Amino acid sequence: MNYWLIVPAAGKGKRFGGQLPKQYLRLGQSTVMQTTLDRLSTLAAIKQIIVPIHPEDDIAKKLTYQYPQKIRFVTGGAERADSVLAGLEAIKTEAQPDDWVLVHDVARPCVRLTDIQNMFTQLFDDEVGGILAAPVRDTIKQASDDGQNHIIATVPRQQLWQAFTPQMFRFDIIYQALSHALAQQNMVTDEASAVELLGFKPRLINGALDNLKITYPEDLLLAEFLIRQQTT
Ligand code: C5P
Repeated sequence: MNYWLIVPAAGKGKRFGGQLPKQYLRLGQSTVMQTTLDRLSTLAAIKQIIVPIHPEDDIAKKLTYQYPQKIRFVTGGAERADSVLAGLEAIKTEAQPDDWVLVHDVARPCVRLTDIQNMFTQLFDDEVGGILAAPVRDTIKQASDDGQNHIIATVPRQQLWQAFTPQMFRFDIIYQALSHALAQQNMVTDEASAVELLGFKPRLINGALDNLKITYPEDLLLAEFLIRQQTT
């Protein structure tokens, strides 16, 4: 059985602002993109890393990577789900239906390899897959929809988790799920949502909270700090 990794990197980072997509911003000695790909390419189990990039991206292929032979760039699509599906199309003829596909945001350079190894162990004989996630710690409030942000409810948090990546599924399930979600024009924001739409119940695998997603400029300094502190 093979493990494939798709790292969607075709987004323009609208929330981040600025000209340069966030994956090309400096993080320590290199960029967010190089840090994420170099870290994940050290996982021996991963056969190939497929990186969907924007059709006009002229940076990704020019950067240097620790294991360039593992990385394959493909053209991404309009939405994240289109980009991930483009990655799946690229391996369709080589992948077996029960091969594992991991999808990881390029903007999460701090993911711990020990969490991914734990995910491999936990999901080893699972028929569907699961995602790295963490139980919600804060009290969760629901806001009014009139733009005034009045609290209209306190949501019980016992069963609430925040979803991270990697998200890991059997090839045939994730392929079917994303094709179905896109055909329905359902704007899923992660792969698990698409799999859930098919009626499956992916597992939540507890991961470290420092798996930060770089969303705003101030997150870069925090990511740099977290990476310096990490020992696993
Ligand atoms: O914008 P956001 O941080 O939610 O994007 C999540 C991930 O999806 C990023 O890695 C981004 O590059 C990727 N993406 C993509 N294709 C798109 C939109 C987003 O690969 N069309």
